[in-house]
Amino acid sequence: MSNNILIVGATRGLGASLGALYSRRPSHHVFGTTRSSTTPSHDSEITWLTEIDASKPDVGQKLVSQLPASTKISTAIISAGYFGFETFDNPDWDKQVQMYTTSAIGPVFMVHHLVKAGLLGEGSKVILVSSEAGSITLRHEKEGGGNFGHHASKAALNMVGKLLSLDLKPKGIAVGLVHPGFMRTEMTKSVGFDKYWDAGGAVTPDEAAQSLASFIAAFDISKTGEFWAPRGPADIGTAEDVLGKDLSTPLATAVVNYSV
Ligand SMILES: NC(=O)c1ccc[n+]([C@@H]2O[C@H](COP(=O)([O-])OP(=O)(O)OC[C@H]3O[C@@H](n4cnc5c(N)ncnc54)[C@H](OP(=O)(O)O)[C@@H]3O)[C@@H](O)[C@H]2O)c1
Repeated sequence: MSNNILIVGATRGLGASLGALYSRRPSHHVFGTTRSSTTPSHDSEITWLTEIDASKPDVGQKLVSQLPASTKISTAIISAGYFGFETFDNPDWDKQVQMYTTSAIGPVFMVHHLVKAGLLGEGSKVILVSSEAGSITLRHEKEGGGNFGHHASKAALNMVGKLLSLDLKPKGIAVGLVHPGFMRTEMTKSVGFDKYWDAGGAVTPDEAAQSLASFIAAFDISKTGEFWAPRGPADIGTAEDVLGKDLSTPLATAVVNYSV
């Protein structure tokens, strides 16, 4: 299969780093999405798909309409995400709607339309960028409550990924869920988590993209529906408290399990 890589949410952070990484590789071509109607001026190697908003009902159709019909996507990585900070005292309805639609609803419609259009098929991989934050098992008093929309929308995405894996296994399409690592990006800075970057072992999005790309290269249908943390437990704040010491890297996560 041709090495066409689709990255949803490629303008900043992890998505931008993945776009740069894959577009440097020979015989790879990157399709990257932006919410804007104009293409970013950087990364001229990337074919930009515009006005792709994961929180909108027509996201799947818009995605498919801008990809050449004959394209076969080898790997689709949905990295788009939004973190709206909340506490118990200040839950926020609009932020929650934006997080659930972006994180857990949009991916269903994007994958549905890509598969129905024949752009994803036998041998394709779908990587849903989730978070250890979506693991019920890993939630612990050390990090407390709050952030309902962010954490619960990732838990919902984990279920979506599991269900898609069951739908798509007969078609030979592998679906993986990942915690990409704690990253020094606008997302974590926007909620004040930059104060934890040093102590929490946060990495640059370029570093996270490297480990994720290595993981994706080895990921196949034998692991479909599984949740993995390619960078291991080091930047998962509650990993040792909940799971114990001497955890492996990559961390296979029936462990970062999304069950109750
Ligand atoms: N940062 C971390 O420590 C961390 C940890 C675990 C998991 N993650 C996950 O990793 C992924 C990437 O995170 P990041 O830190 O790289 O985030 P980021 O720097 O904030 O970048 C977010 C990206 O998602 C796009 N995006 C946001 N809302 C969108 C929407 N409704 N439709 C389409 N695209 C949208 C943004 O596009 P615009 O430029 O248009 O805003 C941007 O390209 C996210 O899914 C996040 O939840 C991050």
